[in-house]
Amino acid sequence: MAIRLGDIAPDFTAQTTAGPINFHEWKGNGWAVLFSHPKDFTPVCTTELGRVAGLKREFEKRNTKVIGLSVDALDSHEGWAKDIKDVTGNELNFPLIADHDRKVSDLYDMIHPNADDTMTVRSVFVVGPDNTVRLTLTYPASTGRNFDELIRSLDSLQLTAKYQVATPADWQEGEDVIIGTGLSDDEAMKKFPGFEAKKPYLRVTPQPTR
Ligand code: BEZ
Repeated sequence: MAIRLGDIAPDFTAQTTAGPINFHEWKGNGWAVLFSHPKDFTPVCTTELGRVAGLKREFEKRNTKVIGLSVDALDSHEGWAKDIKDVTGNELNFPLIADHDRKVSDLYDMIHPNADDTMTVRSVFVVGPDNTVRLTLTYPASTGRNFDELIRSLDSLQLTAKYQVATPADWQEGEDVIIGTGLSDDEAMKKFPGFEAKKPYLRVTPQPTR
């Protein structure tokens, strides 16, 4: 069954390029991004893995661990890591699951047979400190993901988990945010004094400091 927002991210144990990992144990109390790749030694995936490796510091700043998955074996992943370094200049600095038996792909419904019955699609699951799924993305094999958008989404997820706010279209860290519709005007005035009501249901305030 598909994994939906708010579900507990299914736990698993898997072989990875960083040794065997139990997902929940490895993740601990922080945030995690689990993302799948259709196949080793494929062009778009090579650029994606290099890009994510280059963003290591950005994920760390957000207390977020990253783990990739591809349905090939460990020795294949290790050979591919050399190509990723050659092409992008970045070492594979996060674990890549060797899901040759498709255990994790099936658990997370990452194979969409009407798209392709052997490879995974490009799935992303962002998992919160309480192990619930906070965001999912699904891209086809032919469309590489925008990892700046993933970082931006993490900023929004972490901000909105802490404060009763939402982030508007194209929001970037530091920009104004929207006051949660669950707050009355009186409550909003206490928490966000001087907010601007563009409409009764659209109240804007500077981003709360973290
Ligand atoms: C790629 O990563 O380039 C790719 C992978 C599977 C199918 C098509 C493209």
